[in-house]
This record gives sequence, C-alpha cells and structure tokens, in this order.
Amino acid sequence: MTSAYAPTQSNLVGRLGQAEEHDTLAARNSRLAPGDIVAVKILRFDRAEDRSAYQDFRVPYQKWMRVLDALNWVAENEATDLAYRWFCGSKMCGTCAVRMNGREVLACWEAVEPEMTIEPLRNLPVIRDLVVDRTPYENKVASLEPWIERTDIYQSFPEPLTHKQMKDASKALDCISCMCCYSACPVIGLGDLTNFAGPAPLVQLGQTALDPRNNPMKVKRALALTGIFNCISCYKCEEVCPASIPIVSRIIEPLKAKTAQLIPEMAKHSLALRAIVAARGRVDPSALMLRVQGLKVFVKLPRAIRLLVRGKIDLIKTFLKIKTEASEAAGRILRRRAATK
Ligand code: SF4
Ligand code: SF4
Ligand code: FES
Repeated sequence: MTSAYAPTQSNLVGRLGQAEEHDTLAARNSRLAPGDIVAVKILRFDRAEDRSAYQDFRVPYQKWMRVLDALNWVAENEATDLAYRWFCGSKMCGTCAVRMNGREVLACWEAVEPEMTIEPLRNLPVIRDLVVDRTPYENKVASLEPWIERTDIYQSFPEPLTHKQMKDASKALDCISCMCCYSACPVIGLGDLTNFAGPAPLVQLGQTALDPRNNPMKVKRALALTGIFNCISCYKCEEVCPASIPIVSRIIEPLKAKTAQLIPEMAKHSLALRAIVAARGRVDPSALMLRVQGLKVFVKLPRAIRLLVRGKIDLIKTFLKIKTEASEAAGRILRRRAATK
C-alpha cells in the first residue's frame, strides 16, 4: 500500500523531536489508509474478581492515529469502562505507557499498527486493565533521597558549572518517569531474587548523584540501596526509552563507577572480573569464583564439580594462569577506560 502521508524533508523538519529520530507518525502509519480496520486486542483485568482476559475491538483507522486515539475510540464507542491513563497527550507526562505487540511504548506517541495487542506494563501490580500501580517505583525513588545536599556554600550566583561536569546528570533530567524501562528490565522481572532498584529509579538518582555539587556521603548512602551491580547491561531499558536517554552508558555505568569508588565492597565481583579479563584476555569462571568467594567456594564443592564435569570451568587453565592472545589488548583497553573515569 502506498502512503498518502509520506514524509518529506520539509515536513520532517516541521515535526521537531520526531524528525530527529526519522521516525514520524507519517512514516509508521504508511501501512494504513483512513477507513481501514485496526484489529485491537486489549488485556483487561478486574482486580475485584481477580480475572484477566483479552478483549477484541475493531477500530476504524483515522489519519495520524496513535495508540492513544485507538484506546479513546474503544472507550467512547465499545467499552466505556476501559481503564487507561493519559494526561498531556504529547510525550511530556509519562503516564500513558503500555505494551504494544510486546514492546513498551507511549500510547500518545506511538502510531497504531494494523494488528495490535495492548497490555499493561510489566513488573508493576495492575490495578485495572492498563492501569498499573506506581507505588513500588515511587517508594524506591523516595528511599534514594534524590536531592542535592551541599557541603559548601554558593561561591557566586549563578553558580559556574561546566557542560562536562553536568554531562551525565543533564541526560537523566530528560526522564519523564514513564516506567517503560522498568517494565522492560529482565532483572526487575526476577522480583525479590535481587535487590536491584531498576533503571527508572537509577535515572532519578542520577539526576543528583551525578551532580558534582552533591555530598559524596549522601550519594554513598543512596548507592548502597540500589543493588546496582545486579544490572547485566543488556540495554533493554535503553531500547524502549521514549526520551532516548542513554540509560546504561550515561547513567548506570557512571553510577557503577561511583559505587566502585565510594563502596568498593559492592563492586567486588565486577572489579574481580575486570582484573581477570585484563590479565588473561578471557573470562575465567573458576578464577572469578575463587577471587570473589575465597575459601567459601569449597562449601559449594558439589556445584563446582558439576561445572567441571560440564566443561564450564577449566582448573588447569585457571591455576596455570593461561592467557589468550587478546590479553594484551584487553589489559590496555580496560586500563585506559579506568584512567578516563
Ligand atoms: S541494562 Fe540493566 S537496567 Fe537496563 S534493562 Fe538491562 S539489566 Fe535492566
Ligand atoms: S529513563 Fe526513559 S524509559 Fe525510563 S522512566 Fe525515564 S523516560 Fe521512561
Ligand atoms: S499522555 Fe503524557 S506522555 Fe503520553
């Protein structure tokens, strides 16, 4: 099907923000024409009856239709009791996030697809239909005390701050608290198995913890509550962030570096892994276990034997400290990275 709304250079420039990502509603709606039917399947949940089920709707496509427009049509015409949240309608308030076809999106920003399954965000309790309870996130953010506690008085007003000093904190300030990243994070999906705070609370913390004016002792107190080294750097959070915040590279990695500096015992595993890769040019699981757990590793002897039998660890290579050809380059890169932090 050809599009009547194909983006041109001039209308791309006219639609700021979207034009930056070359990802306009026009481009994404090109598979539909006004009057086509959009097949919408919504996961509905009734807490009173503790029942959830998908419900199908057929929504007539209208020009520039977003997921939110489709939800509004359903609520106005087919299911007046449908619960969903939105406020600004323009990617500002972060309240309208849902999962569409398995991907976290802002309903007010995402173009409809010809067939859509719409579900609530993951990793938060569902109150009704597409509305989730944000309390766990808000409590976590509050516990991290994301504000600045100064140790010195203002030198002058306005206070001189360079772009370089604020480069990471200022990225975090773009966050609209939509919780898309929190829903996409596989470690948060593990529930109480880890004490990981999650990407959205870390971004909130980054706004002040990465600000050079903050009291390092206060930052240390907050970082101790984050379980930050449980983050596996999978980048799922970054993939879905509608504000295009480089969550891993500009927030979580700098916060990990700060944690390693202020609370080295929290970074024990990470620092040991880095040292092993720098020295041997490879991940050596048995050397890592020995470094992190010390003699306690013998308490877990049956597990170590299982790993040995399955060929997951090689004790000869570990004890002979055998290196790979990559060891020199790995050592150079990791030392350079450490020096630039
Ligand atoms: S990179 Fe870390 S915070 Fe982001 S989704 Fe993966 S585990 Fe979660
Ligand atoms: S970091 Fe991005 S995805 Fe996460 S809450 Fe903020 S704006 Fe949403
Ligand atoms: S309604 Fe405000 S961000 Fe979507």
